[in-house]
Amino acid sequence: MKKNIQNKDRREFIKKSGLAGMAIALAPSFILKNAGPHDRLRTAHIGVGNMGKADLDAISSHAKVDVTVLCDVDANNLAAAKKLHPNAKTYSDYRIMLKEMENEIDAVIVSTPDHTHAPASMMAMNLNKPVYCQKPLTHYVSEARAMKKLAAEKNLVTQMGIQVHSFYDYKLATLLIQSGIIGKVHTVHAWSPKSWGYDGPEPVGEDPVPETLDWNLWLGTSAKRPYKKEVYHPGNWRKLMDYGCGTLGDMGVHIFDTPYNALELDVPRTIKNECRASNGFGYPENNVVTYEFPETQYTTETLKWVWYDGPGAPNEHPDLILPGASDASKKGKKSKKKKKKETVEDKISLDAKIAGPGTLPDQGAMFVGEKGRLLLPHFMQLPTKIVDGKYVDITSEIDAVSKANNIGEIVRNYESEGPKHYHQFVDACLGHDKTTAPFSYASRLTETILLGVIAGRFPNKTLHWDSSSAQFSESEANQYLEGEYRDF
Ligand SMILES: NC(=O)c1ccc[n+]([C@@H]2O[C@H](COP(=O)([O-])OP(=O)(O)OC[C@H]3O[C@@H](n4cnc5c(N)ncnc54)[C@H](O)[C@@H]3O)[C@@H](O)[C@H]2O)c1
Repeated sequence: MKKNIQNKDRREFIKKSGLAGMAIALAPSFILKNAGPHDRLRTAHIGVGNMGKADLDAISSHAKVDVTVLCDVDANNLAAAKKLHPNAKTYSDYRIMLKEMENEIDAVIVSTPDHTHAPASMMAMNLNKPVYCQKPLTHYVSEARAMKKLAAEKNLVTQMGIQVHSFYDYKLATLLIQSGIIGKVHTVHAWSPKSWGYDGPEPVGEDPVPETLDWNLWLGTSAKRPYKKEVYHPGNWRKLMDYGCGTLGDMGVHIFDTPYNALELDVPRTIKNECRASNGFGYPENNVVTYEFPETQYTTETLKWVWYDGPGAPNEHPDLILPGASDASKKGKKSKKKKKKETVEDKISLDAKIAGPGTLPDQGAMFVGEKGRLLLPHFMQLPTKIVDGKYVDITSEIDAVSKANNIGEIVRNYESEGPKHYHQFVDACLGHDKTTAPFSYASRLTETILLGVIAGRFPNKTLHWDSSSAQFSESEANQYLEGEYRDF
């Protein structure tokens, strides 16, 4: 790791807090109860605009949460959040906030652009705070490994922000796959029509920084760069290599989650990204990323995984032709859909359209196994099984695994389902539950995603990944595993 991310405060903290020799073995809830004076959770929110606002709403909808601090580098977003939580203190710099509020907060929620996830979360965890961090967990592979290590060392409650992880259909698909409904799985296809990329040059010149934005704090640990209107903040940063992780790091994390979890995958052995060459500033769009994973108890000897973004799934692929598919879709022709203005809900994929019987959903995953295929649309739709070109009724299997594992009833309401993942984090912090996407899991999933992103810098070349040394055999790729941190 090049700089800053090391767990340098840990020893000092343990010495100061008198927990030497004890802290590692303690249950997370014990540490938390000692940090807070009551059985309520005092939360600090870093990044409160857009998804940060959705995170704030979901966390604060838990009856035992007191929103104590709000932090944002954009004064407009901070003011809007303050209106909703007038008693919360406000900050623009998370470093000052964490130092000053250390003894008044119990947990931290990080909802900033990707490049700030690890710097803010590591600092919070070094202060012994449980962290809910948005997906992808980090911007660099080295950060993902460091986050996992620190969370484990400090025995902290952690959760990555992939709220659909706690939705009925995804839990159901996981159980169906693990029950062997299609036998051992040899291939997964996963796709999204989103296309976060940029092929233009790095912008020249500089626009005046809005009075309401602290540009230096927005850049944070990333390199100093002149401000340009609408190029970076808000949202557009995800197209750019210094801040985001392209479509893989956005929709990929959600859509990978269920197959990855269901098949109990570790990180891949090989990765190849077929895409255009990048100029080193923006990500290439239209990635086709092929991974090979080592065997698990739910896969054949090798698992092949293919991700498609931009044009989405190639519906002429034999694995992806659905029963009742029209000739047009078999030949891969796309239906023309009216483009509507994108809302936050679109960004978090609330679009749960039911696809026609022969039409692949816009986003989703197909598991291909020894005994058939299982299609899992993204999201809030039941998985369907296909054998020999025909849909197979799996009602009885669904009933059986649902009841045996007590996963509840089908709910088709994002408002009621959405907060579950967040409430699970709050309850875990209070010692009443366990998180299902802790950093131990999230770091592996994020590493897998980031390896595909790095492969985009070497179009059409197969990279070989050695998980034990955390290095590629192709040494030229190793420089992208970590980043230089700027002092800011
Ligand atoms: N789980 C989901 O469904 C989902 C959906 C959308 C976004 N996300 C994730 O949420 C994160 C934010 O995405 P977004 O679309 O809201 O981005 P955005 O650019 O629209 O908003 C980011 C917010 O964080 C603030 N911010 C930026 N740097 C900060 C810093 N150093 N300190 C404090 N505040 C800072 C910005 O001012 C803004 O309010 C990303 O990691 C993204 O991947 C998750």
